[in-house]
Amino acid sequence: MNKPPKNDVFVQRTASFIDLQPTNESFEEAIICGLSGEKKSLPSKFFYDARGSRLFDEICVTPEYYPTRTEIGILAKIGSELANMIPERSQLIEFGAGNSTKVRLVLRAVQRFDSYVAIDISGEYLQKVANELASDFPEIKVTALCADYTRLFELPDADHHDGPARVGFFPGSTIGNLTSEGAITFLRNIGHLLGDGAGFIVGADLLKDEKILLAAYNDSLGVTAAFNLNILHRINRELEANFVPEYFSHTAIFNPEKERMEMHLTSLRDQTVRLAGRDFHFAKDEAIHTENSHKYTIKGFGELLEAAGHKPLKAWTDPEGLFSVHFARIGVAG
Ligand code: TRP
Repeated sequence: MNKPPKNDVFVQRTASFIDLQPTNESFEEAIICGLSGEKKSLPSKFFYDARGSRLFDEICVTPEYYPTRTEIGILAKIGSELANMIPERSQLIEFGAGNSTKVRLVLRAVQRFDSYVAIDISGEYLQKVANELASDFPEIKVTALCADYTRLFELPDADHHDGPARVGFFPGSTIGNLTSEGAITFLRNIGHLLGDGAGFIVGADLLKDEKILLAAYNDSLGVTAAFNLNILHRINRELEANFVPEYFSHTAIFNPEKERMEMHLTSLRDQTVRLAGRDFHFAKDEAIHTENSHKYTIKGFGELLEAAGHKPLKAWTDPEGLFSVHFARIGVAG
């Protein structure tokens, strides 16, 4: 911590906090809907309660999970190139803010931002992280926006004309968690939110040897398994359900046709679970599909950005070609 200068008033900066209360009614509905289908599934955005967010941070530092450290390595190298494409006094808007490691790097390396908006569904965690960031970057105005960014239609200070130039930031391989149609819709929505001409920095995990992928989603310490199973603990707590998480196991497979990793929770026995006043039956070996993680080529991801109406300007990768970071201009393709 920097010491405050003598004879000066020291103001501890905190982030402004805006809570759009994203999950209240939708959690129960979404879980019931997912478990009522012919093929059971659970929406992956609900992984990230306080414990889920912490577990995900732990996944990111397991030796097998290469995306985080590889993307950090790329971001650390491209700061000055990014700066060339971003006007002074821009606003950086991050979708799914997480633990702030990557945004700190970008704020430092690019030196073009005087405000930062962190959007995340996990309010408690978001507030903590945003406050730490605000005190470490006193020259940057930090806003924490607790919202479901897949359903957000306007930013709180939405005024595309007089406001600062905007740059969206969507690191990680979160975009891969959507199908390509879902990703295109999402990228269009982000385009409306940011406005034409805004910049957009986005990470995309690349197709690679299946062995590397399988290891990344089956780490030997079992953190990924704990993360996947955590959603059952959350359902128990918030919906008064009686899942026995030990009766399910984490399974991750690669689907070569769809070019994606698929995460499941597989029922280890025939069982019935009571949830929000209803019974849900699970046959032995029946799987609940919890997440997809699509893998792209650099070219394929550029085409996806174009299909959403944006112009891919540049893409960077690491020497081994494991991961990619793209910069696009919003709403100006073709
Ligand atoms: N967005 C991350 C990814 O696709 C999420 C993730 C990592 C994940 N490991 C997981 C989701 C295991 C479910 C289960 O890489």
